[in-house]
Formats: sequence, structure tokens, C-alpha cells
Amino acid sequence: MAALLDWMREIRREIHRQPELGFNEHKTAALIAAKLQGLGIDFKTGVAQTGVVGYLGTEGPTVALRADMDALPLTECTGLPFASETPGVMHACGHDGHVAIALGAARILKEDPPKGSVVFIFQPNEEGSGGAKPMIEEGVINGIDAIFAGHIDPRYDAGKIVLTPGVNNAYTDGFHIEITGRGGHAARPHEAIDAVVIACSMVMQIQAIISRNVDPLKPAVITIGQITGGTVNNIIAEHALLWGTIRTLDDGTRQRIFERLRAVASAFAAMYGALIEVKFHDGYPPLINHARQYETAEAAAQATVGRDNVIIHPTPSMGGEDFAFFLEKIPGCFIRFGGRKAGVEQFPLHNPHFDFDEAALITAAEFMAKVVRMEIEKLAAEAV
Ligand code: NI
Repeated sequence: MAALLDWMREIRREIHRQPELGFNEHKTAALIAAKLQGLGIDFKTGVAQTGVVGYLGTEGPTVALRADMDALPLTECTGLPFASETPGVMHACGHDGHVAIALGAARILKEDPPKGSVVFIFQPNEEGSGGAKPMIEEGVINGIDAIFAGHIDPRYDAGKIVLTPGVNNAYTDGFHIEITGRGGHAARPHEAIDAVVIACSMVMQIQAIISRNVDPLKPAVITIGQITGGTVNNIIAEHALLWGTIRTLDDGTRQRIFERLRAVASAFAAMYGALIEVKFHDGYPPLINHARQYETAEAAAQATVGRDNVIIHPTPSMGGEDFAFFLEKIPGCFIRFGGRKAGVEQFPLHNPHFDFDEAALITAAEFMAKVVRMEIEKLAAEAV
């Protein structure tokens, strides 16, 4: 097995060195294609622009594995010997590892094929506008009975497998608020309508939606991550713009927040005599694990790392994951693989210092091969 880990580590490091942003994963796709070819697995490239889909077997039940491929717009600060050679782009979410894991599972399954078919979906652009939806629209999930995907998680030690039954990830809705006041001289505020003052007080008021309008037993987050307005210190700003994201786990809470945000905006418009427009941007739906595939995943996890190393994490993440689009169409389960590096400071996902323990690669690949095999066996037994 050491040979397999070395092989996956090399793949991961090569991708890490040449990170590419969403829908730009050309070198990554070429590397995946070359590895699948080397394994003797048929594949298609150019799916949803830069995606690659591998096919092992043509008969029996069909189970898919999905790995995301894209990097983030960050400049790497790890100082690793295989650090990004592209300034401003970095694999800081472990997707380099996810590709290596799926290829590792492909190698295991090719050497000892299951009694069914396996589809390996290498998906572009998870971090940006989403690559899952266009892949589904191009028909990649046709004929697939079940699907699994995973994510490296630096909060848990390598060798641990983490599972969450039911809701695993949140709705991620974006929004922006455009405030138009009336520009003027900084020393004569009574002649102007100050968009910056309105923006600042709106940011504070919007947080009260969470504390005062949402059921305290229903998780919800509103983050305004960007605020712009004004030009210089002696001009009262005519325009200000707020960009934010809303995370919820149920549609009722989500709709309540939409409604309250609109109400806050129109109240501020009336109060200050400004024009305030709110626009919502659809994000990812919540990722909900299907009970049956969750059971298969739990059994496969126990068979891979032993009961003591399987962590059942009962609460969902408020982060988004576009694997949710696949689970809206076909049953499946999302799994997390511990990747904390021992003996050093561990940085979180999306941090320019992020790295993970590559021992996670072998655990994850063995698990992925096992979960596919077990699900195929279940489906085959049912079909008899
Ligand atoms: Ni990620």
C-alpha cells in the first residue's frame, strides 16, 4: 500500500504546485486524464468546461464518486517545497487532495473491480459559481444509482472519518444592498443624505434580524463581508454598497430573513430619504445526506478505520457545498476525512497557511473504494 500513498502524494503535490481557479482547471484536467489513461479507465474531458468523468465497468448497479478540482484566489504562505507556483492562486481547501483521493480509489477499484460500474466525477469550480449544476445539466448523473463525495477536514486527526446524518451543509444565499443618498460637502451634512452613515447603521440593524426575528433554536448566520462607499474624506458619499451572505438550514428561516432584510431596507429608505435596493443571489441548496447511503458510509468507515476512529458529528456545517445539487437528484452521502497535521499549528481551510496530513489520502481512498463496493453489493442484492 505504500506505493499507492506515494502515487497519490505525488499527484496531490503536482496539483498543489499548479493550482487553477474554477472553470480554468486545464492542467489539472490534463493530469487527471493522463492518470485515468495510465490506469486503463475510459474517460471524457471537457464536461462542464473543464470537468473529467471516468468510467469503470458498463454493467450492474452504478455508483459514482465526485471530487472537486479548483483552487482559491489566495497567495500561498506555507513555504512548502511544493507550494503554489502561481501567485494569487492556492489550493487552500484541500481539493488537490480530493482529486488524489478519487484517483487512488480508482486505482484500488481497477485492480479489484466490483460487480457493477463506477463513475468518477472530477468537478470544476466548487468554490465559485458552482460546477455541479452544469455537470448535471450535461447528463453526468444519468444512470447513476448512488453517489459519494468527501472533504478533508483539518479539525480532526488524519485517520478519522467524520459523518453527519441528515443535513450536512447549509443554504448559502448571497445578497447585496445598494444605497443611494445625496452627495455633498463634508462640512454641510444637512444638505446631503449620507450613504456611509446609512450603510453603517444598516450593518448593525441587520444583525438584529438574527437575534430578534429568527427562532433561537434555528441556526442562521448573516455576514456582511464587504462594504464600499465614498471617495475621499471631505465628500459625503452618495453611494454605498453592502455584500453579504445568508446561511440557514431550513427554508422557513431563510424566507423570514429575506422578508426582514427587505423590511429593514425600506424602513431605512424612509427614515433617511434614500433609495435602497436589496438583491438576493441564489446560492447552493442545503446538502442533505440520504439515510440509506449514510448507513453504507458508516459501515464502510468502520470497516476502513475501525469503530473508534469513526466520529459521528451530529450538527451540520453552516458552510455551503455544491455537492448538494447532486443529492437533490440522486441518493448519496458526503463524508469528511480528518487531516490535522500532528505537532504543528493547524491552519483552517481557506487560510494562506493551510496544509493537511497526507496520511489522510490513503484513509480516504480506501474508504471511497470500500463504500462504492458496499453500495454496489447492496444494490445488486436488492435487484435479485
Ligand atoms: Ni472545499
